[in-house]
Amino acid sequence: MRRAVCPGSFDPVHNGHLDIVRRASGLFDEVVVAVGTNPSKSRLFDADERMEMLRRAVEPFGNVRVAGFTGLLTDFCRDNDVHAIVKGLRAAGDFEYELPMAQMNSHLADVETVFVATEPTYGFVSSSLVKEVAGLGGDVAAFVPPFVLERLTARLAERSRQS
Ligand code: PNS
Repeated sequence: MRRAVCPGSFDPVHNGHLDIVRRASGLFDEVVVAVGTNPSKSRLFDADERMEMLRRAVEPFGNVRVAGFTGLLTDFCRDNDVHAIVKGLRAAGDFEYELPMAQMNSHLADVETVFVATEPTYGFVSSSLVKEVAGLGGDVAAFVPPFVLERLTARLAERSRQS
């Protein structure tokens, strides 16, 4: 069984993430989308909410499941018999950020990092930008599934009422 992990914060999941997960699901027998649940990091959505949205978003892919993890990604890989980490690369900056992590992860465990070139359509899409643009009233409908857009709009409205 060739099993891969697609790790990330997914706060929230966007269509660029889903494109990478879909392509990973064609390359491997099983893909685990692993959501970093570090409680010390401030997120718009908590870990359960992020995983719930992901579970719904990956429903169309038959061989993808969602899990949470804390601590080292390589420990998660070892515990789940995962030998490949799949990451999307949007541009050179992503590569500079990802390469040392790939090398460190390979030092820590018997795990390969597989880089997948992001579809140009999603080359500028990130969760941070989606949140920033949506928070300022911009249209991000092209970048997230409709049910994520609904949750995002509601959460941002809630936050703006609180501040
Ligand atoms: O979506 P993000 O924020 O880019 O995801 C980052 C994530 C969760 C993939 C990365 O921070 C990570 O792997 N965290 C686990 C902690 C770890 O293993 N750190 C050492 C990396 S070499």
